[in-house]
Amino acid sequence: MYQLIYVSDFAKTLDEQDMQDILFRARQCNEDMGISGKLVAVAGHFFQIIEGDEEHVSVVFEKIKRDRRHQNIRIVASRNTNCREFGDWRMGFSQLLDAQQKGDVATILTNFAQRETFESEHHQGIHMLLKQVC
Ligand SMILES: Cc1cc2nc3c(=O)[nH]c(=O)nc-3n(C[C@H](O)[C@H](O)[C@H](O)COP(=O)(O)O)c2cc1C
Repeated sequence: MYQLIYVSDFAKTLDEQDMQDILFRARQCNEDMGISGKLVAVAGHFFQIIEGDEEHVSVVFEKIKRDRRHQNIRIVASRNTNCREFGDWRMGFSQLLDAQQKGDVATILTNFAQRETFESEHHQGIHMLLKQVC
């Protein structure tokens, strides 16, 4: 099992319909590829964990990188893992509308999203927060 986390910036304002479109297509493709994970939108940024066979994760990530709805895609971490962590989710989704509304988690994730590079401690923090939000 292989797991990849990235962060990106919205390329433009994305509304509810845009989010639904992204998720609909993502879930469709992920089902076929045996990919699971979670997508979190916060303050104009996406955080996403994708997990599955390494080969399939790479194929899906290449498509995600080419998607013009977001930009400045930065890998937080990629690694082999023992087991699937998001098995229930072809792609779970959470939109943290603004930092005040959702409190600390949104604020901390928004701060992480300002970074261009990530160390192991950032990876651990982001991983924990992405698991936590629902
Ligand atoms: C933030 C974001 C997350 C996405 N996540 C996935 C995903 O998990 N799986 C996926 O197949 N496509 C995902 N996509 C959509 C792909 O970029 C692409 O539109 C989709 O795979 C359809 O590609 P195709 O029509 O070339 O097959 C995501 C797009 C964005 C902007």
